[in-house]
Amino acid sequence: MLNASEIVKEIQKRYKIIGRTEELENIILARLVDKNLIIEGEVGVGKTRIAKAISSFYDTEFARIDCSEETLPHNLVGYFDPPLVISKGYLEESYIYGPLASSMLKGGCLFINEINRMPESTQNSLLTALDEGILEIPKLKTIKAHKKFFAIATQNPAAHVGVTVIGEALKDRFIWISLDFQPPTEEILIIKQEANLDNSGGEKIAQISQQIVDQTRNNSSIRRGSSIRGAIDLAQLISKTENSDSTKNWVNTAVMALYNKIELEDGVTSSKKEIITNIVLSVLNKVDFQ
Ligand SMILES: Nc1ncnc2c1ncn2[C@@H]1O[C@H](COP(=O)(O)OP(=O)(O)OP(=O)(O)O)[C@@H](O)[C@H]1O
Ligand SMILES: [Mg+2]
Repeated sequence: MLNASEIVKEIQKRYKIIGRTEELENIILARLVDKNLIIEGEVGVGKTRIAKAISSFYDTEFARIDCSEETLPHNLVGYFDPPLVISKGYLEESYIYGPLASSMLKGGCLFINEINRMPESTQNSLLTALDEGILEIPKLKTIKAHKKFFAIATQNPAAHVGVTVIGEALKDRFIWISLDFQPPTEEILIIKQEANLDNSGGEKIAQISQQIVDQTRNNSSIRRGSSIRGAIDLAQLISKTENSDSTKNWVNTAVMALYNKIELEDGVTSSKKEIITNIVLSVLNKVDFQ
């Protein structure tokens, strides 16, 4: 049997996850004692990627629910289809299983994306399921969870606008794993891998893209900087231009890649385009294009 650090290495290799060794070790530890996980982190830090890898590694079916303020208990649990109830009655065939009920039955991994956006009334449907592995479906049956059933939820940090905090009762049922931004060297490896930059200029493109995105996270005019997705998009775009040593091409592709991924502070008078252009110029200034 593999030990925890061998399992982590295997997961990194099989699912092409760069770094995250410590976080994966903590996740493995939590899974060893059958705990449910909540992965917290900013947009694009790899929450979904890691959740899918864990689910697949433990050979469980992945049932996903993306939460919003409109997510109702029936979206999670399931519901009786009215026309079928009329023709057949309250039977198994009339019931449409939701992701919670089906993953409990099959022993799957329930992936609850952005759990903090789920209304409190819906959160309550999860409580006994996660705690005791029991889900009551009125007029049908009581489901007892398969022993492989578990849940991985994600949430963005509470500082974000429009994000509510999940209830104490629900929080109590999860083990907390936090994902920060990764160090530049790891981000560069991720960009190279995800943008398929295996040609000779790839290293330089990945480095510049990482630096540009990093600057958006440390700029006083920007409230929310870009995630690594911005760097991956930028690297893909610039690598397809005719000349990836052209300042004009870098500015153009950076505006395309980053415009929708950053948010300016209130009261900033410069435009997003100007701010992105200045960041690109300052990064390129330090690069040697010979
Ligand atoms: N450690 C990593 N190794 C390899 N790829 C990664 C890693 N972290 C992030 N990525 C890549 O970065 C991108 C964003 O990751 P992902 O979708 O998992 O983020 P997220 O935290 O779920 O974002 P969101 O909050 O927007 O849902 C994906 O292309 C993913 O494959
Ligand atoms: Mg995600």
